[in-house]
Amino acid sequence: MADRFASLTTRVDLSTELCGVRLQNPTVLASGILGTSKGLLKGVALAGAGAVTIKSLSLEPLPGHNNPIVVGFEAGMLNAVGYANPGIKEGAKEFSNLKEVGVPVIASIIGRGVGDFMKVLEGLWGLDFAAVEVSLSCPHTPGYGMLAGQNTPEATKEIVSVVRKGTELPLLVKLSPNIPEIGRVARAAEEAGADGITAVNTLGPGMLINIEARQPILDFKVGGVSGPALRPIALRCVYDIYKSVKIPILGVGGISTGRHAIEMLMAGASAVGIGTAVYSRGIEVFGKVCQEMEEWMEINGCTSVKELIGAAHAP
Ligand SMILES: Cc1cc2nc3c(=O)[nH]c(=O)nc-3n(C[C@H](O)[C@H](O)[C@H](O)COP(=O)(O)O)c2cc1C
Repeated sequence: MADRFASLTTRVDLSTELCGVRLQNPTVLASGILGTSKGLLKGVALAGAGAVTIKSLSLEPLPGHNNPIVVGFEAGMLNAVGYANPGIKEGAKEFSNLKEVGVPVIASIIGRGVGDFMKVLEGLWGLDFAAVEVSLSCPHTPGYGMLAGQNTPEATKEIVSVVRKGTELPLLVKLSPNIPEIGRVARAAEEAGADGITAVNTLGPGMLINIEARQPILDFKVGGVSGPALRPIALRCVYDIYKSVKIPILGVGGISTGRHAIEMLMAGASAVGIGTAVYSRGIEVFGKVCQEMEEWMEINGCTSVKELIGAAHAP
């Protein structure tokens, strides 16, 4: 893999840093997409990702919602997976020896409250995760995230200040795009000890209807919107957060090309998450985005990713 990307790194420097974690390039697999096994994470790393995030783990196993849980539409995807996962005990077995993945692996954790979060964190002890992402922002899982009121500034502060004490790993807090004043929520996370912000989770919930069946398509009826429809909103969220906090941002939402990644960096992100584009461009999307970034940077006389971070904030 190193050889395949050698030509890229000689011309421009795609490396970046996220909460003290060094990444060879700014692309990161977003949580919930292919992150269910170590084998899949390795595949994404081989396809060129700079880091990978696992599917969110809860304390107990969660069955998730009934099918259909995902549906595509002309501007992206609607999903109500419902945080289906095997729980921290089984998850910890799957994610041992993470050095084998070859790039930094970020743990994503969810909980119904601080007690859950702390126990899930305990389950991660001794594993080789590079950072922990605390997801407070799912719009379609009862008891978790938005449906548990975890995304207000007050709840964010309360949860993060406790969770902070449970780990020495860099702590990212994943926010929802649904709150107009997302900068305030990000600041609450920073004040409570977060090392970085992941912005954003899916938008919504939204709905699509099968008009022949006269029924919502998803069994859960509503789901989170991701992909192209989310991109302008995710960009604005990252732009606002960059003005509100000093900690780094992992920008996520609708990124599928090198141009999109550069746009997200210019809004203020230090690295970019990719989720739905894995469905539209395949697992190769990570290598392709890096190559497209490099081409644009060369043409535009830019030698380092660091020159792009926050560039759109210049007066
Ligand atoms: C099928 C699917 C499952 C997801 N599962 C999770 C999850 O378990 N935890 C989480 O924090 N975000 C989850 N997300 C949200 C993504 O990580 C990402 O924040 C969102 O999809 C926006 O990025 P994108 O437009 O590149 O997909 C999921 C998204 C999709 C489409």
